[in-house]
Amino acid sequence: MSDAYDAIVKREQEVFAPGVRRWPVALERGLGSRVWDIDGKEYIDLTAGWGVNSIGHCHPALASAIADQARTLIQTTNIVYTQPQLELAERLDRITPENIHRSFFVSSGAEANEGALKLAHRATERARFVATLGSFHGRTLGVIGMLGQEKYRARWSAIIHEGRFVPYGDLAAAESAIDEEVAAMIVEPVQGEGGVVVPPEGYLEGLASACAAAGALLILDEVQTGIGRTGRWLACNHSGVEPDILTLGKGLGGGLPIAAFMASDAVMSSIEPGDHGGTYAGNPLCSRAAATVLRVIEEEALVARAAGLGEHVRKRLQALAQRRSERVECARGLGLLVGVVLRDAGFTGSVHARTRELGVLVNLTAERVIRIFPALNIPEDELDRALDIVEAVIEKE
Ligand SMILES: Cc1ncc(COP(=O)(O)O)c(C=O)c1O
Repeated sequence: MSDAYDAIVKREQEVFAPGVRRWPVALERGLGSRVWDIDGKEYIDLTAGWGVNSIGHCHPALASAIADQARTLIQTTNIVYTQPQLELAERLDRITPENIHRSFFVSSGAEANEGALKLAHRATERARFVATLGSFHGRTLGVIGMLGQEKYRARWSAIIHEGRFVPYGDLAAAESAIDEEVAAMIVEPVQGEGGVVVPPEGYLEGLASACAAAGALLILDEVQTGIGRTGRWLACNHSGVEPDILTLGKGLGGGLPIAAFMASDAVMSSIEPGDHGGTYAGNPLCSRAAATVLRVIEEEALVARAAGLGEHVRKRLQALAQRRSERVECARGLGLLVGVVLRDAGFTGSVHARTRELGVLVNLTAERVIRIFPALNIPEDELDRALDIVEAVIEKE
């Protein structure tokens, strides 16, 4: 490591809270799907800033929209009308299922899910929630009770409202948990942090029916799967399921902090002004960025691209899984959200570190899963070069 890197680490240790276990990388700039550290080392980024940089780092259209908006109007009180927020809501209305109509903007995925839980409570006047084991919905105090991962939830059990947990993908278990006390079931169409778990066919349809039968609502958390990531605008488009409440974040803003919960006219009519919100919620700068991201995805046909490239990645990694079945359990995913499940957690850690040393950033999640979720516009040759490295490391380490 260089002196410049050591100096950053040392200075940070003096002033930062221990919020994360950092990688030994200090990034300085990015362009498309490549990033460079402070010593000029180049990496291919298969994490897209945790599934956020949907159109790559510093896309020129996004950079100039942000710069233009920054010279026009960055922030206002949310009490006034602004054009960028309206344009974004209209665009979202066009790409979401027929029944989903109304947007409520917030600043993070967790806040979107908080809003969704509050809305479900208002709409049903019930207070119980069903969630899935292995789920991730954010870390704020309301949604943390819905996190099906003990490591995040257990430490706060004294001060949270816990959901009823059912195994992900197990429809019968969900059906028996969703009763007349339940306001909503909250679920990811594909579990992301939980290890890129794709549920069995018919699961979401079954959940929608079970919720409807019990008078409960279905909240689909598409914070990670939405905005083209799975090869459709939304992961629920694959099955045609229309959620009662939909949450979006991450890829929506392309890097600016904006998220939303959305619902039908009827469901959304049960909240009142002041029930939820935030100082920065849907501010002009973030809204303009998000509207630009949606426009670029549409103009560059990136949803179809994510479907095609995702298939390519999965096929390559499934072939690897067959070749090296003693090391790789499987490769799975939907669109450009792909997980390679390795058999050994220690080995997964060394694969993760070694790929980084060789200039490829991937994410390690759920202990044994290498998650690959690059920008939807990653050039195919860069993607293949990065996959060559991931494969070589898994084969040879
Ligand atoms: C499915 C899902 N929901 C919610 C969140 C929380 O989003 P944020 O970190 O923006 O609060 C995440 C973050 O990883 C996520 O993957």
